[in-house]
Amino acid sequence: MSQLLDVRDHFPQLKVQVRGKPLVYLDSGATSLKPIRVIEAVTKNLREGSANVHRGAHYLSDMATEQFEEVREKLRQFVGAESRSEIIFTHGTTESLNLLAYTLGRTIINEGDEILLSQMEHHSNIVPWQIMAEERRAIVRFIPVLEDGTLDQVAYEGLLSPRTKIVSLVHISNALGTLNPLREMFLRAKQLGAVCIADAAQSAPTLPLNVQDLACDFLIFSGHKMFAPTGVGVLYGRAEWLDRLPPYQSGGSMIREVREDGVDFLPPPQRFEAGTPPIAEVIGLGAALDFINDIGLNNILAHDKVMVELARHQIGRVPDLRWIGANATQHHALSFLLNGQHPSDVGAILDEQGIAVRTGHHCCQPLMRRFGIPGTVRASFSIYTSEADIEILVRGLRKAQELLS
Ligand code: ALA
Repeated sequence: MSQLLDVRDHFPQLKVQVRGKPLVYLDSGATSLKPIRVIEAVTKNLREGSANVHRGAHYLSDMATEQFEEVREKLRQFVGAESRSEIIFTHGTTESLNLLAYTLGRTIINEGDEILLSQMEHHSNIVPWQIMAEERRAIVRFIPVLEDGTLDQVAYEGLLSPRTKIVSLVHISNALGTLNPLREMFLRAKQLGAVCIADAAQSAPTLPLNVQDLACDFLIFSGHKMFAPTGVGVLYGRAEWLDRLPPYQSGGSMIREVREDGVDFLPPPQRFEAGTPPIAEVIGLGAALDFINDIGLNNILAHDKVMVELARHQIGRVPDLRWIGANATQHHALSFLLNGQHPSDVGAILDEQGIAVRTGHHCCQPLMRRFGIPGTVRASFSIYTSEADIEILVRGLRKAQELLS
């Protein structure tokens, strides 16, 4: 507990009052709070270190470039990539997936080919593929979700075929907290020659990641869910794939030579980083990685397990509560409904008590449709979540139950 209190002291926002009540922040799945270390790194860069990267012939630009590239190396180590040039900075998970749909789609997808997703994907891992599939006359298929919130592995086996060119799946579901067995699923897909993409937006802040263990070709996540600022994301891609892909956006910093009669592009990662990147945000992400490494992802994971177990036990005692997709693999987030109550009514009553949760479809409408519900109440956790937060949530849910029935 004392270690947890120490961790909480790193997050100034936990001292904020909301509607006259101490903040109970259970919305880390949407975005994490930011530790002082990250706030200070970003502020220092903006106050003293503002300069563009990869361009200047002056001291501050060299310093900024050095710091920026150090973060790329930290990310290489964070995901277990073989080379720094396999790490591309984007603006977030959504942009990383759009980049892939646009570049990979145009490179390998032809008429009649299939892209395999699951019913629990976030819209950012559905819509870019639908748009691309329409353009290429390809087909998007969905692995069904079972009642317990896990993927139907028998159906997956049946959906895989030599026509499957891309399998793009979420690692930890943002709506249900389900941890999918991506390694086994990707190894199977690769036997048929499919390219495998892991959406690690919710798993990167929760458990140790290794792209070799996951057997993925691409892995993506956002900085802001893992203690860094908004506006920076990461795309890991295996070198042999990145080398084959065309640019996504074009302009400065991604060319070797521009002539009136043509252009030569730089190799990855620069080929995919047109324009001025989010420099202060990348430096903030570097500080977030230092923070994570100091705590240790194994300790973060152990804390997550304790919080999920406690929440399952305590929230489960609220009368007339219905879990949505409850299963033994859940991490980071739990979803539920109070019987007969609309999730947004429950969320509004919790908000009056200073409790921040997310309600609604969580950008997962196909998943909500599969369960026949408009949305859920979602509590999501991080290293600063305490037992007291969960107790206050339970009291809030009981109050919502009283007021709404
Ligand atoms: N994808 C984020 C969430 O699940 C925003 O809340």
